[in-house]
Amino acid sequence: MMNRLRDETAGATAGAPAVDPGKMPGHWLLAKMGKRVLRPGGLELSRAMLARLAIQHADAVVEFAPGMGVTARMTLRKTPACYTAVERDPRAAARVKRYLRGPTQRCQLGSAEQTGLPDQSATVVYGEAMLTMQGADQKQRIVAEAFRLLKSGGRYGIHEMTLVPDDLPLEVKQDINRTMTHSIHVGTRALTVREWRELLTAAGFQIQSEITAPMLLLEPLRIFRDEGFFRALRFGFNVLRTPEVRRRVLAMRRTFRRQRAHIGALALVAVKP
Ligand SMILES: C[S@@+](CC[C@H](N)C(=O)[O-])C[C@H]1O[C@@H](n2cnc3c(N)ncnc32)[C@H](O)[C@@H]1O
Repeated sequence: MMNRLRDETAGATAGAPAVDPGKMPGHWLLAKMGKRVLRPGGLELSRAMLARLAIQHADAVVEFAPGMGVTARMTLRKTPACYTAVERDPRAAARVKRYLRGPTQRCQLGSAEQTGLPDQSATVVYGEAMLTMQGADQKQRIVAEAFRLLKSGGRYGIHEMTLVPDDLPLEVKQDINRTMTHSIHVGTRALTVREWRELLTAAGFQIQSEITAPMLLLEPLRIFRDEGFFRALRFGFNVLRTPEVRRRVLAMRRTFRRQRAHIGALALVAVKP
């Protein structure tokens, strides 16, 4: 039985150390199995967020945490004046760099908390499935960094996991976040829609639009929609052929299903006044 995997998350690391599929972060395990869309609302919510960000040729775009680069490619097809990705995982950054062309398209290795990019150098900033995994202070620092980077009138988009309803008791929220953290092996601190809104408005943003979707990341229909027919089949095959991976992925899906009534996906688009 194969129970150790080479960590080739972004497909760029021959000779990387072997990792245990029972312990690796859930999103990297899914990526390793061939899943590219790693955000809670799937491609549909990404498209809805991008539609509201309305990226034009004149825009200077910054993407936080592009991961496998799926949204990066959608953005690049809109041919913005420039595109800069900020990704802290070296293998994911290497993967994203493969999609970039010319001096106006860049991917830098580093944290969205402190990008080192100039003040007011962007007209659009967005990030997906990256704030949920941060603690309260880190969330604030990342949102403040988006605010600093944007020119007045610039748009900020987020796509994250949400807890519902807004008045969910604190113990239930804590219990869901604990259970999710335990299952996906990444600190999960999802917020309610109201709390996400407040995170952005506290930094100075004005909320422009808000779209919600169910959190169906590991449901077969969503996987087919997000990955396409052949990639979805390959992902299923990759998961099923390794017992330890199968156990882990099915356990994640069970957790998502158990919490179904209280978890969802949210995209917010806000403007810097
Ligand atoms: C769940 S994946 C989501 C990737 C992609 N945005 C998507 O939706 O498919 C989380 C990504 O966030 C990146 N990340 C987490 N914290 C970060 C930070 N502070 N700065 C930059 N990247 C970060 C991780 O390396 C990883 O690529």
